[in-house]
Amino acid sequence: MTARHRIAVIAGDGIGQEVVPAAVECLDAVGARHGIAFDWHHLDWGSDHYRAHGRMMPVDGLDTLAGYDAIFLGAVGVPDIPDVETLWGLLIPIRRAFAQYVNLRPVRTLPGVPSPLAGREIDLVIVRENNEGEYSEIGGRIYQGSADEIAIQESVFTRRGVERVARFAAGLAAGRRGLLTSATKSNGIVHTMPFWDEVVRGVLADYPGVTGRQELVDALAASLVLHPERYDVIVASNLFGDILSDLAGAVAGSIGCAPSGNLNPEGKHPSMFEPVHGSAPDIAGKGIANPIGQIWSGALMLDTLGHAEAAAELVTAFEAALESGVRTRDIGGTATTAEVAAAVRANLT
Ligand code: NAI
Ligand code: MG
Repeated sequence: MTARHRIAVIAGDGIGQEVVPAAVECLDAVGARHGIAFDWHHLDWGSDHYRAHGRMMPVDGLDTLAGYDAIFLGAVGVPDIPDVETLWGLLIPIRRAFAQYVNLRPVRTLPGVPSPLAGREIDLVIVRENNEGEYSEIGGRIYQGSADEIAIQESVFTRRGVERVARFAAGLAAGRRGLLTSATKSNGIVHTMPFWDEVVRGVLADYPGVTGRQELVDALAASLVLHPERYDVIVASNLFGDILSDLAGAVAGSIGCAPSGNLNPEGKHPSMFEPVHGSAPDIAGKGIANPIGQIWSGALMLDTLGHAEAAAELVTAFEAALESGVRTRDIGGTATTAEVAAAVRANLT
Protein backbone atom coordinates (compact mmCIF):
# COMPACT_ATOMS: atom_id res chain seq x y z
CA MET A 1 0.00 0.00 0.00
CA THR A 2 1.21 3.46 -0.83
CA ALA A 3 1.11 6.23 1.76
CA ARG A 4 0.45 9.58 0.10
CA HIS A 5 1.42 12.89 1.61
CA ARG A 6 0.48 16.32 0.36
CA ILE A 7 3.40 18.63 1.06
CA ALA A 8 3.45 22.42 0.65
CA VAL A 9 6.88 23.45 -0.61
CA ILE A 10 8.15 26.99 -0.08
CA ALA A 11 11.67 27.08 -1.52
CA GLY A 12 11.78 30.83 -0.80
CA ASP A 13 14.86 32.94 -1.41
CA GLY A 14 18.55 32.54 -2.25
CA ILE A 15 19.93 29.04 -1.78
CA GLY A 16 16.46 27.84 -0.73
CA GLN A 17 15.84 27.56 -4.49
CA GLU A 18 18.86 25.24 -4.79
CA VAL A 19 18.76 23.03 -1.70
CA VAL A 20 15.00 22.36 -1.76
CA PRO A 21 14.96 20.65 -5.19
CA ALA A 22 18.02 18.63 -4.12
CA ALA A 23 16.23 17.41 -1.00
CA VAL A 24 12.97 16.73 -2.85
CA GLU A 25 14.87 14.38 -5.20
CA CYS A 26 16.30 12.45 -2.23
CA LEU A 27 12.91 12.25 -0.51
CA ASP A 28 11.30 10.89 -3.68
CA ALA A 29 14.08 8.28 -3.89
CA VAL A 30 13.72 7.05 -0.31
CA GLY A 31 9.92 7.24 -0.59
CA ALA A 32 9.95 4.94 -3.62
CA ARG A 33 11.69 2.27 -1.53
CA HIS A 34 9.14 2.46 1.27
CA GLY A 35 5.83 2.90 -0.52
CA ILE A 36 5.62 6.60 0.26
CA ALA A 37 4.45 9.02 -2.44
CA PHE A 38 4.76 12.78 -2.04
CA ASP A 39 2.47 15.25 -3.78
CA TRP A 40 4.69 18.33 -3.82
CA HIS A 41 2.79 21.62 -4.15
CA HIS A 42 5.23 24.42 -4.93
CA LEU A 43 4.24 27.84 -3.63
CA ASP A 44 6.18 30.79 -5.03
CA TRP A 45 6.10 32.78 -1.79
CA GLY A 46 8.95 34.84 -0.42
CA SER A 47 10.73 38.02 -1.42
CA ASP A 48 9.73 38.00 -5.12
CA HIS A 49 6.11 37.70 -3.99
CA TYR A 50 6.76 40.62 -1.63
CA ARG A 51 8.15 42.78 -4.43
CA ALA A 52 5.17 41.99 -6.67
CA HIS A 53 2.36 42.10 -4.10
CA GLY A 54 3.75 43.82 -0.98
CA ARG A 55 3.34 40.62 1.03
CA MET A 56 5.50 37.55 1.60
CA MET A 57 2.49 35.29 1.08
CA PRO A 58 -1.11 35.82 -0.06
CA VAL A 59 -3.70 37.11 2.43
CA ASP A 60 -5.21 33.62 2.67
CA GLY A 61 -1.78 31.93 2.78
CA LEU A 62 -2.32 30.34 6.18
CA ASP A 63 -5.67 28.88 5.06
CA THR A 64 -3.93 27.36 2.05
CA LEU A 65 -1.21 25.78 4.20
CA ALA A 66 -3.71 24.38 6.71
CA GLY A 67 -4.78 21.77 4.15
CA TYR A 68 -1.36 20.10 3.83
CA ASP A 69 0.21 17.23 5.78
CA ALA A 70 3.45 19.20 6.23
CA ILE A 71 5.33 22.27 5.03
CA PHE A 72 8.83 21.96 3.54
CA LEU A 73 10.62 25.30 3.60
CA GLY A 74 13.98 26.47 2.25
CA ALA A 75 14.82 29.92 3.55
CA VAL A 76 13.58 33.47 3.30
CA GLY A 77 15.48 36.73 3.41
CA VAL A 78 17.21 39.03 0.92
CA PRO A 79 19.58 41.93 1.43
CA ASP A 80 17.20 44.61 0.10
CA ILE A 81 14.12 43.82 2.23
CA PRO A 82 14.29 44.25 6.01
CA ASP A 83 14.51 40.87 7.80
CA VAL A 84 11.64 41.89 10.04
CA GLU A 85 9.34 41.82 6.97
CA THR A 86 10.51 38.43 5.74
CA LEU A 87 10.49 36.84 9.18
CA TRP A 88 7.24 38.27 10.55
CA GLY A 89 5.56 38.10 7.14
CA LEU A 90 5.98 34.36 6.69
CA LEU A 91 7.91 32.27 9.21
CA ILE A 92 6.55 33.53 12.49
CA PRO A 93 2.87 33.63 11.41
CA ILE A 94 3.18 29.99 10.26
CA ARG A 95 4.85 28.87 13.50
CA ARG A 96 2.16 30.60 15.59
CA ALA A 97 -1.00 29.91 13.57
CA PHE A 98 -0.19 26.20 13.51
CA ALA A 99 0.90 26.02 17.18
CA GLN A 100 4.33 24.74 16.14
CA TYR A 101 5.49 25.26 19.68
CA VAL A 102 8.47 22.92 19.47
CA ASN A 103 11.48 23.87 17.41
CA LEU A 104 13.49 20.67 17.25
CA ARG A 105 17.16 20.91 16.33
CA PRO A 106 19.25 17.74 16.41
CA VAL A 107 23.01 18.33 16.52
CA ARG A 108 25.46 15.55 15.72
CA THR A 109 28.99 15.23 14.48
CA LEU A 110 28.80 13.77 10.97
CA PRO A 111 31.30 11.46 9.30
CA GLY A 112 33.88 13.34 7.27
CA VAL A 113 32.65 16.77 8.38
CA PRO A 114 35.44 18.70 10.04
CA SER A 115 34.39 20.11 13.40
CA PRO A 116 36.29 22.73 15.40
CA LEU A 117 36.19 20.12 18.18
CA ALA A 118 37.79 17.33 16.17
CA GLY A 119 37.46 13.91 17.69
CA ARG A 120 34.57 14.75 20.03
CA GLU A 121 31.30 12.84 19.68
CA ILE A 122 28.34 15.18 19.82
CA ASP A 123 24.80 13.80 19.82
CA LEU A 124 22.27 16.13 21.33
CA VAL A 125 18.90 17.67 20.56
CA ILE A 126 17.86 21.20 21.32
CA VAL A 127 14.17 21.74 21.99
CA ARG A 128 13.47 25.43 21.56
CA GLU A 129 10.18 26.99 22.64
CA ASN A 130 8.82 28.38 19.39
CA ASN A 131 5.65 30.34 20.11
CA GLU A 132 6.20 32.75 22.97
CA GLY A 133 8.97 33.93 25.32
CA GLU A 134 11.21 36.77 24.29
CA TYR A 135 9.93 36.97 20.70
CA SER A 136 6.78 38.93 21.40
CA GLU A 137 5.13 41.91 19.78
CA ILE A 138 4.37 43.52 23.11
CA GLY A 139 6.22 46.74 23.73
CA GLY A 140 6.99 49.94 21.96
CA ARG A 141 9.13 53.01 21.62
CA ILE A 142 8.42 56.56 22.65
CA TYR A 143 10.21 59.91 22.29
CA GLN A 144 11.88 58.50 19.19
CA GLY A 145 15.15 60.09 18.22
CA SER A 146 15.33 62.23 21.35
CA ALA A 147 17.70 61.86 24.27
CA ASP A 148 14.71 60.65 26.33
CA GLU A 149 13.90 57.80 23.96
CA ILE A 150 12.66 54.60 25.60
CA ALA A 151 12.29 51.12 24.11
CA ILE A 152 10.39 48.39 25.94
CA GLN A 153 10.03 44.77 24.83
CA GLU A 154 8.06 42.37 27.00
CA SER A 155 8.62 38.63 27.28
CA VAL A 156 5.62 36.34 27.50
CA PHE A 157 5.81 33.04 29.39
CA THR A 158 2.62 31.10 30.04
CA ARG A 159 2.21 28.02 32.21
CA ARG A 160 0.61 26.16 29.30
CA GLY A 161 3.38 27.24 26.92
CA VAL A 162 6.28 26.25 29.16
CA GLU A 163 4.64 23.05 30.32
CA ARG A 164 3.94 21.66 26.86
CA VAL A 165 7.44 22.27 25.54
CA ALA A 166 9.01 20.85 28.71
CA ARG A 167 6.78 17.80 28.43
CA PHE A 168 7.84 17.23 24.82
CA ALA A 169 11.53 17.58 25.77
CA ALA A 170 11.21 15.22 28.75
CA GLY A 171 9.46 12.62 26.59
CA LEU A 172 12.22 12.90 24.02
CA ALA A 173 14.91 12.50 26.69
CA ALA A 174 13.11 9.44 28.06
CA GLY A 175 13.53 7.77 24.66
CA ARG A 176 17.22 8.74 24.42
CA ARG A 177 19.85 8.86 27.18
CA GLY A 178 17.46 10.17 29.83
CA LEU A 179 19.11 13.52 30.54
CA LEU A 180 17.28 16.82 30.23
CA THR A 181 19.17 20.10 30.66
CA SER A 182 17.05 23.21 31.08
CA ALA A 183 18.59 26.54 30.06
CA THR A 184 17.77 29.24 32.58
CA LYS A 185 18.89 32.66 33.74
CA SER A 186 16.94 32.88 36.96
CA ASN A 187 19.76 34.74 38.69
CA GLY A 188 19.38 37.76 36.41
CA ILE A 189 15.86 37.52 34.98
CA VAL A 190 13.93 37.33 38.20
CA HIS A 191 10.29 36.77 37.17
CA THR A 192 10.00 34.74 34.00
CA MET A 193 13.01 32.48 34.51
CA PRO A 194 12.22 31.28 38.06
CA PHE A 195 8.72 30.56 36.66
CA TRP A 196 10.27 28.59 33.78
CA ASP A 197 12.40 26.60 36.28
CA GLU A 198 9.40 25.85 38.48
CA VAL A 199 7.23 24.60 35.60
CA VAL A 200 10.06 22.46 34.16
CA ARG A 201 10.66 20.88 37.59
CA GLY A 202 6.95 20.14 37.90
CA VAL A 203 6.91 18.38 34.53
CA LEU A 204 10.01 16.34 35.42
CA ALA A 205 8.16 14.87 38.39
CA ASP A 206 6.11 12.91 35.81
CA TYR A 207 9.27 11.45 34.22
CA PRO A 208 11.08 9.47 36.92
CA GLY A 209 13.42 7.96 34.31
CA VAL A 210 14.70 11.38 33.24
CA THR A 211 17.40 13.22 35.15
CA GLY A 212 16.80 16.97 35.11
CA ARG A 213 19.59 19.51 35.24
CA GLN A 214 19.24 23.25 35.28
CA GLU A 215 22.08 25.40 33.94
CA LEU A 216 22.52 29.14 33.61
CA VAL A 217 22.53 29.86 29.91
CA ASP A 218 25.85 31.72 29.89
CA ALA A 219 27.65 28.84 31.59
CA LEU A 220 25.75 26.39 29.42
CA ALA A 221 27.01 28.16 26.27
CA ALA A 222 30.60 27.81 27.45
CA SER A 223 30.06 24.22 28.50
CA LEU A 224 28.55 23.30 25.12
CA VAL A 225 31.86 24.27 23.54
CA LEU A 226 34.05 22.64 26.18
CA HIS A 227 32.03 19.48 26.96
CA PRO A 228 29.37 18.95 24.26
CA GLU A 229 29.29 15.20 24.95
CA ARG A 230 27.68 15.89 28.34
CA TYR A 231 24.37 16.88 26.73
CA ASP A 232 21.43 14.78 25.59
CA VAL A 233 18.31 16.97 25.33
CA ILE A 234 18.40 20.69 26.07
CA VAL A 235 15.14 22.60 26.55
CA ALA A 236 15.29 26.36 26.22
CA SER A 237 13.15 29.44 25.72
CA ASN A 238 12.73 30.97 22.27
CA LEU A 239 15.73 33.33 22.50
CA PHE A 240 18.07 31.05 24.45
CA GLY A 241 17.21 28.13 22.19
CA ASP A 242 17.84 30.21 19.08
CA ILE A 243 21.33 31.18 20.24
CA LEU A 244 22.29 27.78 21.67
CA SER A 245 21.27 25.92 18.55
CA ASP A 246 23.38 28.09 16.23
CA LEU A 247 26.29 27.64 18.63
CA ALA A 248 25.82 23.88 18.88
CA GLY A 249 25.44 23.64 15.09
CA ALA A 250 28.70 25.48 14.54
CA VAL A 251 30.48 23.29 17.10
CA ALA A 252 29.29 20.16 15.27
CA GLY A 253 30.55 21.34 11.89
CA SER A 254 28.77 23.61 9.44
CA ILE A 255 25.50 25.48 9.65
CA GLY A 256 24.90 24.03 6.18
CA CYS A 257 24.26 20.62 7.73
CA ALA A 258 21.91 21.65 10.55
CA PRO A 259 18.21 20.66 10.28
CA SER A 260 15.12 21.75 12.16
CA GLY A 261 11.48 20.87 12.59
CA ASN A 262 8.80 23.28 13.76
CA LEU A 263 6.44 20.80 15.31
CA ASN A 264 2.83 20.76 16.32
CA PRO A 265 3.26 17.56 18.35
CA GLU A 266 -0.49 16.89 18.57
CA GLY A 267 -0.71 16.77 14.76
CA LYS A 268 -3.73 19.08 14.75
CA HIS A 269 -1.92 21.38 12.32
CA PRO A 270 0.84 20.82 9.78
CA SER A 271 4.42 20.93 11.05
CA MET A 272 7.13 22.74 9.10
CA PHE A 273 10.63 21.48 8.29
CA GLU A 274 13.51 23.77 7.30
CA PRO A 275 17.28 23.92 7.58
CA VAL A 276 18.71 26.13 10.33
CA HIS A 277 20.63 28.28 7.85
CA GLY A 278 19.23 31.25 5.96
CA SER A 279 19.20 32.20 2.28
CA ALA A 280 23.00 32.72 2.13
CA PRO A 281 22.98 35.56 -0.43
CA ASP A 282 26.80 35.43 -0.56
CA ILE A 283 26.78 32.04 -2.31
CA ALA A 284 23.30 31.97 -3.89
CA GLY A 285 23.05 31.12 -7.58
CA LYS A 286 26.42 29.36 -7.72
CA GLY A 287 25.18 25.80 -7.20
CA ILE A 288 27.56 25.21 -4.30
CA ALA A 289 25.20 25.35 -1.31
CA ASN A 290 25.32 22.41 1.07
CA PRO A 291 21.98 20.55 0.77
CA ILE A 292 22.53 18.33 3.85
CA GLY A 293 20.61 20.60 6.27
CA GLN A 294 17.62 20.54 3.90
CA ILE A 295 17.87 16.77 3.31
CA TRP A 296 18.15 16.07 7.03
CA SER A 297 15.12 18.32 7.61
CA GLY A 298 13.35 16.06 5.11
CA ALA A 299 14.29 13.07 7.27
CA LEU A 300 12.72 14.81 10.28
CA MET A 301 9.60 15.31 8.17
CA LEU A 302 9.49 11.61 7.26
CA ASP A 303 9.86 10.69 10.91
CA THR A 304 7.05 13.03 11.95
CA LEU A 305 4.79 11.64 9.20
CA GLY A 306 5.24 8.20 10.76
CA HIS A 307 8.00 6.77 8.55
CA ALA A 308 10.83 6.24 11.03
CA GLU A 309 12.50 3.53 8.98
CA ALA A 310 12.62 5.60 5.79
CA ALA A 311 13.88 8.57 7.81
CA ALA A 312 16.73 6.52 9.27
CA GLU A 313 17.62 5.23 5.82
CA LEU A 314 17.82 8.74 4.41
CA VAL A 315 20.15 9.77 7.26
CA THR A 316 22.36 6.75 6.63
CA ALA A 317 22.40 7.59 2.91
CA PHE A 318 23.65 11.16 3.39
CA GLU A 319 26.13 10.09 6.06
CA ALA A 320 27.58 7.56 3.61
CA ALA A 321 27.81 10.24 0.90
CA LEU A 322 29.67 12.55 3.28
CA GLU A 323 31.96 9.78 4.41
CA SER A 324 32.82 8.90 0.80
CA GLY A 325 34.11 12.44 0.35
CA VAL A 326 31.25 14.00 -1.63
CA ARG A 327 31.08 17.25 0.29
CA THR A 328 30.42 20.91 -0.52
CA ARG A 329 32.98 23.65 0.03
CA ASP A 330 31.69 24.82 3.41
CA ILE A 331 32.72 21.45 4.85
CA GLY A 332 36.02 21.15 3.06
CA GLY A 333 34.99 19.51 -0.23
CA THR A 334 34.60 20.56 -3.85
CA ALA A 335 31.23 18.99 -4.76
CA THR A 336 28.26 20.97 -6.05
CA THR A 337 24.76 20.86 -4.57
CA ALA A 338 23.61 18.59 -7.39
CA GLU A 339 26.57 16.22 -6.95
CA VAL A 340 25.83 15.77 -3.26
CA ALA A 341 22.15 15.08 -4.00
CA ALA A 342 23.14 12.55 -6.67
CA ALA A 343 25.51 10.79 -4.25
CA VAL A 344 22.77 10.55 -1.63
CA ARG A 345 20.30 9.21 -4.20
CA ALA A 346 22.85 6.66 -5.40
CA ASN A 347 22.86 5.23 -1.87
CA LEU A 348 19.09 4.78 -2.09
CA THR A 349 18.78 2.57 -5.13
P1 NAI B 1 22.89 32.37 6.48
O1 NAI B 1 22.63 31.13 7.24
O2 NAI B 1 22.09 32.60 5.27
O3 NAI B 1 24.44 32.43 6.09
C1 NAI B 1 25.50 32.46 7.06
C2 NAI B 1 26.80 31.96 6.43
O4 NAI B 1 26.72 30.54 6.29
C3 NAI B 1 27.05 32.51 5.03
O5 NAI B 1 28.43 32.71 4.85
C4 NAI B 1 26.56 31.40 4.11
O6 NAI B 1 27.22 31.35 2.88
C5 NAI B 1 26.85 30.15 4.94
N1 NAI B 1 25.85 29.10 4.67
C6 NAI B 1 24.57 29.06 5.13
N2 NAI B 1 23.93 27.99 4.67
C7 NAI B 1 24.81 27.34 3.88
C8 NAI B 1 24.73 26.14 3.10
N3 NAI B 1 23.60 25.43 3.04
N4 NAI B 1 25.84 25.78 2.41
C9 NAI B 1 26.96 26.48 2.47
N5 NAI B 1 27.11 27.61 3.18
C10 NAI B 1 26.04 28.03 3.89
O7 NAI B 1 22.69 33.58 7.50
P2 NAI B 1 22.74 35.17 7.24
O8 NAI B 1 23.79 35.47 6.24
O9 NAI B 1 22.80 35.78 8.57
O10 NAI B 1 21.32 35.52 6.65
C11 NAI B 1 21.04 35.66 5.27
C12 NAI B 1 19.56 35.88 5.11
O11 NAI B 1 18.85 34.72 5.51
C13 NAI B 1 19.01 37.01 5.95
O12 NAI B 1 18.07 37.72 5.20
C14 NAI B 1 18.36 36.31 7.13
O13 NAI B 1 17.31 37.02 7.68
C15 NAI B 1 17.86 35.06 6.46
N6 NAI B 1 17.67 33.94 7.39
C16 NAI B 1 16.56 33.17 7.19
C17 NAI B 1 16.32 32.07 7.96
C18 NAI B 1 15.13 31.25 7.67
O14 NAI B 1 14.56 31.34 6.59
N7 NAI B 1 14.70 30.40 8.58
C19 NAI B 1 17.24 31.70 9.04
C20 NAI B 1 18.41 32.54 9.14
C21 NAI B 1 18.60 33.63 8.34
MG1 MG C 1 18.80 31.53 14.44
